[in-house]
Amino acid sequence: MPEVAAARKIRLKVNGVAHEALVEPRTTLADFLRGGLALTGTHVGCEHGVCGACAVLVDGTAVRSCLMLAVQADGAELMTVEGLAESDGKLHPIQEAFVEEHGLQCGFCTPGFLIAIYELLESDPSPSEEAIRDVLGGQMCRCTGYQSILRAVHSAAAKLGAARSASATPGA
Ligand code: FES
Ligand code: FES
Repeated sequence: MPEVAAARKIRLKVNGVAHEALVEPRTTLADFLRGGLALTGTHVGCEHGVCGACAVLVDGTAVRSCLMLAVQADGAELMTVEGLAESDGKLHPIQEAFVEEHGLQCGFCTPGFLIAIYELLESDPSPSEEAIRDVLGGQMCRCTGYQSILRAVHSAAAKLGAARSASATPGA
């Protein structure tokens, strides 16, 4: 029988919550999030780094969690799609924009798109059309059509920009 490597203890923060867990070295981050932490919003499609459905933020950078081992996330701060909405259930502006612009149909790909777009808008609040298309090109959707997703990104950027201006205006 093949030898099973001993489980290792990892500590990490996911959506602001600290976790400590024993994981087998071969467990992917995607499987750990879904099976170990019950954060099933992270979807697994291709399992080899192509579709982007499994994207999560690790220390602020979007990664494909099917290509990363859970043990590699030891000590990291993660955000999954569950971390986007506020605790009272209010959707994040990117999520609102997806709803309003019909940026999804079946929704399978949506968590990965939301995370990738979140990363883009955090680093570049007013991205060029080319920069947006570049990010969307790394995510696969087989049923919505990319035009509505593109509109959703523009709308989300405008919403976030308006929110920033409002919070920067004294007395707003
Ligand atoms: S499931 Fe990870 S990239 Fe497709
Ligand atoms: S909404 Fe169905 S795959 Fe994208």
